[in-house]
Amino acid sequence: MIAKASAPAKAILFGEHSVVYGEPAIAGAVNKRAYVTVKESECDKSIFKAPNINFEAELLTREKKYILRKGKPGIIRYILESVYRAHDHTPIEITLTSNVPIGSGLGSSAAVTVATLAALYRYHNIRFNKKSLAHDAHMVEQAVQGVASPLDTLVSTYGGLVYLSRNKKVERFKVNFNVPFVVGYTTKHGNTGKMVKDVRHLKEKNPKIINPVITAMGNLTNYAKQAILKRDFNKVGELMNINHGFLDVIGVNTLELSRMVYNAREAGAIGSKTTGAGGGGSIIALCPGKVDEVAEAIARDDNILKIHFTRKGVSSRVYK
Ligand code: MEV
Repeated sequence: MIAKASAPAKAILFGEHSVVYGEPAIAGAVNKRAYVTVKESECDKSIFKAPNINFEAELLTREKKYILRKGKPGIIRYILESVYRAHDHTPIEITLTSNVPIGSGLGSSAAVTVATLAALYRYHNIRFNKKSLAHDAHMVEQAVQGVASPLDTLVSTYGGLVYLSRNKKVERFKVNFNVPFVVGYTTKHGNTGKMVKDVRHLKEKNPKIINPVITAMGNLTNYAKQAILKRDFNKVGELMNINHGFLDVIGVNTLELSRMVYNAREAGAIGSKTTGAGGGGSIIALCPGKVDEVAEAIARDDNILKIHFTRKGVSSRVYK
């Protein structure tokens, strides 16, 4: 039996980092996906392969360990944690292909985790729904990263543009927000767990300065929600620019991220900001009518992806 699942990557529009402290956030599933296949192993060992990134490892499922065969470890910890929770240790082969650049800040780990768990549940004929899957994937992210908000895994499961409120209620926007975005990313990868910890330290050292900034980021996200509902792109852009400034205050921007942000604005983006955890990774630029100009400006020094938000969340099926 072969089980296959895929899940979209996400881009955070508003609320990264502040969401960790209970503030609202807005993020959307994008048209880049992780695809996972699970089947019986052809040998007596469990194997994980990601041919895109030239990675292969043997999984020691009982010990939650792996033996590296080739490539650089990274995503493997999410696979191992998922396998540990959803598999019975019989030898399997898991293959990941993805058009989400790993470590680009587009939530590749959430997309991979959601797709891996869905494929494993299908393989074992375990019942699940989107709510339970999003919850389980969040548990995996938390186990691997130490700290994680449910945002990335929610978006990768449900798809669409999602608002997560202060009391953790999930709302999917019904409006069509089909505007073009350009994502710029650097070859320097950010480490989400480290960035979240760094922000926590800064906040603990300077509570009177950083706490109000976190609250302001939450208020900004609520204004952004209204602007999105009205399809007021100029307001969304303005709020993205302010949000980038706040991310600077909390110390997650880097030279490369800000270079991409300002290159995008100079080329006509109406809003641009770091997206995701920062410390490397990506920026997102809202650029209706200027996609090619913005893409070209970022691509002078960095890498680009043209993306749009999509309603398609996780999908999975079994082949007998
Ligand atoms: C990372 O994509 C977003 C952060 O807010 C962390 C999280 O929400 O778990 C930085």
